[in-house]
Amino acid sequence: MTNSLIFVQATTAPRIPSTRLALQIFDMNYGVQFGSLWPSIRISLLSEQKYGALVNNFSDVLQITQQLENLNAVDFIWESKKVVQDHDSIGEDKASKSAPSPETRTELSTQQEQPVSSISPNIKCYTFPKGDISIFHPAIPDVIGILGYYLLDAASVLPVLALNVQPGDLVLDLCAAPGGKTLALLQTGCCRELAANDLSTSRTHRLHEVFHRYLPQELQKVVRITSWDGRKWGELETSTFDRVLVDVPCTNDRHSLMEENNNIFMRMRKGERQMLPRLQLELLVAGILAAKPGGEVVYSTCSLSQLQNEYVVERAVELLAIQYDIEIQVEDLSYFRRLFQSTFSFYPDCRVGELILPHLTANFGPMYFCRLHRLN
Ligand SMILES: C[S@@+](CC[C@H](N)C(=O)[O-])C[C@H]1O[C@@H](n2cnc3c(N)ncnc32)[C@H](O)[C@@H]1O
Repeated sequence: MTNSLIFVQATTAPRIPSTRLALQIFDMNYGVQFGSLWPSIRISLLSEQKYGALVNNFSDVLQITQQLENLNAVDFIWESKKVVQDHDSIGEDKASKSAPSPETRTELSTQQEQPVSSISPNIKCYTFPKGDISIFHPAIPDVIGILGYYLLDAASVLPVLALNVQPGDLVLDLCAAPGGKTLALLQTGCCRELAANDLSTSRTHRLHEVFHRYLPQELQKVVRITSWDGRKWGELETSTFDRVLVDVPCTNDRHSLMEENNNIFMRMRKGERQMLPRLQLELLVAGILAAKPGGEVVYSTCSLSQLQNEYVVERAVELLAIQYDIEIQVEDLSYFRRLFQSTFSFYPDCRVGELILPHLTANFGPMYFCRLHRLN
């Protein structure tokens, strides 16, 4: 075959759609990573996604929660507290029958105290129960023009819960647009100040719109919106924040299988896609440098990829130790599995952090999140 014929064939060969290429690459990589679980995750990713309704505490909450409860939706965060209470009462019941040994008592109390104290009492997010595929309609503005709830993948709330924001905290959301997690952070009512940043100016515009539709004017002062390269943040405001959320750009697995528009598997974005783990690592390191010693950082993605999840966390911990002499403790979030097992399907085998797997009965995620404690 001549060179010119090869050239003609290459240029006229039909282009494979980005969504199809994404599926081929996922089949190759995730087939190996998840083994026999992959067919179930695959069919779920290709099926209708489930949403959650994040209640806007700055609207008429009573009316909104009533409206959502009339649809038979449940606040999954509130439900998780019942899990803890039931666990407590079983513990008490058992205790009245036979007194546990001092060791068992210590073990039980540390298991139970941690979840109760670290789940924000103020965030409310309604979902339809497992197996129920009903959908929420978009919220309509109340009398003063504020929207009562924000529709999002309910698993997106988990990284925010994991951040465990405390009253008076200075918070940074390094990659914030379009703003679902920022809005959830503000629902805690705990942020003294929140810096919401995103490199993309068009996406920061969406952030402004979300705040305008959901927040009263006086609260908009608490939020500072910027459009900087997050990788530089560690140099700009170092050791400043009590809490940092690093919700990085990723292969956005569900979107990549369903939408041609803005798909990271487009041929022209191949280089960008291959550089993602490096960008993610740089953003996570910058986020940790921006946190105060003693502060907490949550790293999150909406990808199933180990290379974008555990690998990035592990490299960041190594790099901070070697280059900056900063010690990081990767925290155990396995109690999230017990708390939220009736709403989400968790992957039990992450080396570090937690991963929500899409499942036909609970079609949320993927969502990976890991909390890191900066020790010095
Ligand atoms: C997964 S999205 C964030 C979603 C957002 N946290 C939410 O919950 O709505 C990742 C974001 O990172 C932004 N981004 C990409 N590179 C960045 C960089 N170098 N610095 C800051 N933001 C960046 C993208 O514009 C994108 O909006």
